Amino acid sequence: MTKILMVCLGNICRSPLAEGILKSKLSSAAFFVDSAGTGDYHIGKKPDSRSIAVAKKHGLDISNLKGRQFSVSDFDAFDVIYAMDESNYRNIITLARNEQDKAKVNFILNEIYPDQNQNVPDPYYGGNDGFENVYNMLDEACDAISKKLNP
Ligand code: 4NP
Repeated sequence: MTKILMVCLGNICRSPLAEGILKSKLSSAAFFVDSAGTGDYHIGKKPDSRSIAVAKKHGLDISNLKGRQFSVSDFDAFDVIYAMDESNYRNIITLARNEQDKAKVNFILNEIYPDQNQNVPDPYYGGNDGFENVYNMLDEACDAISKKLNP
């Protein structure tokens, strides 16, 4: 079982979408996909209604996901940890206990733009087109991840 964690700031906009998209592309028998936020603002909350809506438009139901905060134990529980942006990446790396922890962390967009450390923009304060844009970026990245893990 390969375990993959998607991480953003609030765990209500980007990472729940990434979780739902990647789950839809991988077998649940062989892969466990989860998401978390580096912040604690939205623990126990459903994803943002705009993330739920854009997922639904593309045939995915993420309405039952619940926000949780990233913790050090996630380094033990997961094989791969994807950060949505540079700030998330730094916050995760700060919590790493050793090089093995650090080696699990990568920018999700590095799966399509290797070594560029590009950000998935935070859509929280923008309009609905921001969520569509984020969906498309994450769909492309998750396609690459699923092909890499399950060729
Ligand atoms: P996310 O978006 O990190 O993609 O879930 C955000 C959600 C909430 C906040 C910031 C970003 N917030 O400041 O409450």
